[in-house]
Parts: sequence; C-alpha cells; structure tokens
Amino acid sequence: MRRQIVLLRRAKQIFQTEGLVALLRRGFAFRATYYLYEHSPSERLKGRTEADFMPKIQGLTFEIVSTNQEADELAAEGLEFRSQDGIDRERLDRGAVAFCAFVEKELAHIGWVAMTEEAKKMVDSLPYKVDFADNEVCMGGVWTNPKYRRMGLLAYTDFKEHQFLKERGIVKSRASIVATNIASQRGVAKFGAKMYAEAHYSRVLWWKSWKEKPLA
Ligand SMILES: CC(C)(COP(=O)(O)OP(=O)(O)OC[C@H]1O[C@@H](n2cnc3c(N)ncnc32)[C@H](O)[C@@H]1OP(=O)(O)O)[C@@H](O)C(=O)NCCC(=O)NCCS
Repeated sequence: MRRQIVLLRRAKQIFQTEGLVALLRRGFAFRATYYLYEHSPSERLKGRTEADFMPKIQGLTFEIVSTNQEADELAAEGLEFRSQDGIDRERLDRGAVAFCAFVEKELAHIGWVAMTEEAKKMVDSLPYKVDFADNEVCMGGVWTNPKYRRMGLLAYTDFKEHQFLKERGIVKSRASIVATNIASQRGVAKFGAKMYAEAHYSRVLWWKSWKEKPLA
C-alpha cells in the first residue's frame, strides 16, 4: 500500500512538472542508464576536516534527522523539513536517516542514507546490491535548493554523512546516479567515490530488466 502511495505521488510530480504525455510515456515504458558508485568513509575523511568543507553561507545550520518525532520537533521550531514529494515520513518510518542543511528556517539541502534493506526501498529502489549485513549502506534522495546550488552544500553534507557512517563502523557507501545527471557525477567523482558498474534499467508495463556491467 505504501509503495502505491509513493508511486501515486511520483506520478503527480511528473504530471505537474513534465505534463500528461510524459506521464503516460513513463507509465508505459522507461529506460535509463545508471552509474553505480562506492566510497569508503575512511577514504572520504582521510586528511580532511569539517572546516575544509564548511560552506560560506550566512545562517547555515545542519541537522541529522532519524525519527518522525525529531522531524516534528524541527517543524515545531519553524524549520521547513518536509520534502516536496512528501515521502520523508515514510522514509523515516522505515529507518532512513536524513542529513539536512538549513539557511535560517529554509531547507537548503537534504540527502538520505539507508542503513537497512527496508530503508533502501524508500531511498533508492533500483535493485543494485548493498550488503547491509557486512556494514554497507546506500545513499540517495539528494537535493539542493536551487537558491543555494554550487555553494558547497552537497560537498559538506556528503562529508558529514561519511563522518556519521565511520562512527558507526560502516565500511562502504553505495549510490546510483542516472547517466544524464552530470552535476552529480562530477560531484561524487570530485569527492573520490569509485564508479564500479554501469547499469541498464528497462521497464515496459509490468516487465522489468536490470543489467549491471562491472567497470575495471
Ligand atoms: C546535484 C546537486 C545535488 C548538487 O548540489 P550542490 O549543493 O549544488 O553541489 P556543490 O555545490 O556541493 O558542488 C559539489 C561539486 O559537484 C559538482 N557540481 C555541482 N553542480 C554542478 C553543475 N551544475 N555542473 C557541474 N558540476 C557540478 C562540482 O564538481 C562541484 O564542485 P565545484 O563547485 O568545486 O566545482 C544539485 O544540483 C541538485 O539538487 N540537483 C537536482 C537534484 C539531483 O540531481 N539530485 C541528485 C540525484 S543523484
């Protein structure tokens, strides 16, 4: 049932942003290439400190949100946490953790980490393998408010996420990025993440295919 709600919200978002034809086309068939990345928290933090990534933005604060109670408390303080597509409550319920940057009360950046298989379904539903039992996690749901893009918020939050993960004994973070998203590809490459596979995803009505090709 929750999955259907998420799909309906996603359909509404496509309809509002791209129109009816795009929605019908996506509902019938979808094809995309993704690159899969992995990163080790120890490598990410090596020789670097938080100060190296601190964005020069007035009124910036940072919050890690793990429960809906914490999200409600932020909302009660007037901080705008709830995301546009409204799936954040579901994500927190399923154990995902949100890393948020605020400028005054406004959400400037958000990124999600799934610490369990259950949370992964809500953070990145693409079927690449994440070995949660072997201290791996995955990341997704990354968004910087257009007003604050190119000011270092992704770089800072990514650093804070890996700091959090290292403290919890996590040895690998994984993420998928659609091949057309050049900004994200450049960002993660700059942070030192390794591109380990290219994946092709196709869907026609209920038929789905996912093929991964490891990269040397
Ligand atoms: C991708 C996105 C999260 C980047 O966030 P950001 O806070 O602007 O990123 P940062 O300022 O920390 O940039 C970090 C690095 O990423 C790369 N980068 C970011 N935006 C870029 C752009 N528009 N073009 C090229 N490279 C870009 C650069 O290497 C940059 O380092 P530099 O500025 O020193 O050159 C943001 O553009 C966004 O929200 N896009 C829409 C949603 C999205 O694509 N989410 C990611 C899904 S995987």
